[in-house]
Formats: sequence, C-alpha cells, structure tokens
Amino acid sequence: NGRKSTNIVWHKSSVEKIDRQELLQQKGCVIWITGLSGSGKSTVACALTGALHARGKLTYVLDGDNVRHGLNRDLTFKAEDRAENIRRVGEVAKLFSDAGIICIASVISPYRKDRDACRSILPDGDFIEVFMDIPLRVCEARDPKGLYKLARAGKIKGFTGIDDPYETPLNSEIVLRQEGEVCPSPETMAGKVISYLEEKGYLH
Ligand code: PPS
Repeated sequence: NGRKSTNIVWHKSSVEKIDRQELLQQKGCVIWITGLSGSGKSTVACALTGALHARGKLTYVLDGDNVRHGLNRDLTFKAEDRAENIRRVGEVAKLFSDAGIICIASVISPYRKDRDACRSILPDGDFIEVFMDIPLRVCEARDPKGLYKLARAGKIKGFTGIDDPYETPLNSEIVLRQEGEVCPSPETMAGKVISYLEEKGYLH
C-alpha cells in the first residue's frame, strides 16, 4: 500500500505513562460513550468531565460533533467514513490516555467492529465502554436538533436508527438506562461511571 509509512521506528520516551500518572494522581483511560443521536452522550460526557474536574482529575472530551468540525471535517456518514471517524477518535483518545488523561469520547460509533477495534488498540482495562441504552422512540421524541424529523421525511439519508443500523453493544462495562419511563439525571448517570472508575482504581 503506497499510502503506508515505511522506514519508521518507534521512539521510546524517557518519561512514560506511569510517570505522568504519578504526577497527575490518576490513571489514563478512555471512557467511550456510545449510543443513538439524542441518547444523551454529550450531556453525560459534560456532567462527567465537570464532576471529575471538580475532584481535581484531568479529563478531556472528544465529542463527535465537535471533532467533525476539525480533525474529521473530511468525513461523511457513509459506513467507511464512520469507520475512519471512529478509528481517528480512537487513536487520538489513545494518545490522551497515554498522556495520563481521562479521555471521554462521545460518538455514536454505531458499528460493533469499529468500537472493538478501538478497544483492541488500548491496554487491557483502559477502554471503558459506556452504552447509552435509551430507546429510539425516546431519542426521537427528544429530537434536540430536529434531525430525526428530517430523516423520517427522507431529507437526511442514512441516519442512525432510521435507515442506518445501530449495533447494540454486547459487553459494555457500563450500561446507562431509564428506570421505567424515567431517565436518571446526567449527574446520576455520570455518578455511575465515577463509581466504576473508583472501584477499578482509576482515580487513585
Ligand atoms: S458516527 O456515526 O460515530 O461517525 O457519528 P458522530 O461522529 O458521533 O456524529 C454524530 C452527529 O452527527 C449528526 N449527524 C448524524 N448522525 C447520525 N447519522 C447521520 N446520518 C447524521 N448526520 C448528521 C448528529 O447531530 C449526531 O450528533 P449526536 O450528538 O449523536 O446527536
């Protein structure tokens, strides 16, 4: 493949992840929030980064919508571009976590193999998948950007959940869902993620 880099050698640094983690008093990891549009990924990411920051933890949010304005501005929503979008977000998240930062990625990431590929490039345990298990009818009723309406009217083609698949995660570390018809607050949902991080020793 003519596009692949050749003759490159990995350069080892004298300061390593473990040293940065010691400095920051936390463990770098990736919290990967996946779910339908309108499921609350960005809202939970925001509550989570806020709560962790307030505890003196260094976090950084990679939000699909935002990353698509810069790094991924060349990508559409067809399957191969979504795959490339997720691959790049995964690689950037890996760099942040190696920096010792708690990186929160908030992307639909509808295809299982793309999510699993991101998991596979990270050290064991450092990819924490959070599934926003909110029914399509709820996301569609919320329709915060009016995109479901446009998709139903055929004005957006290939919209996730309507005419493009969302492959439900099978082995997420954390599942955030409604209790009956009531959706817990973003702070409550973020609290569940924080409890997991505490339990697993990510916050020292
Ligand atoms: S993906 O599938 O992971 O590559 O998507 P992502 O980068 O997270 O971007 C999702 C946001 O893009 C808007 N949008 C669409 N979503 C799904 N399908 C189609 N066709 C589409 N077109 C635009 C939408 O606002 C998504 O934002 P969220 O925050 O998920 O609602």
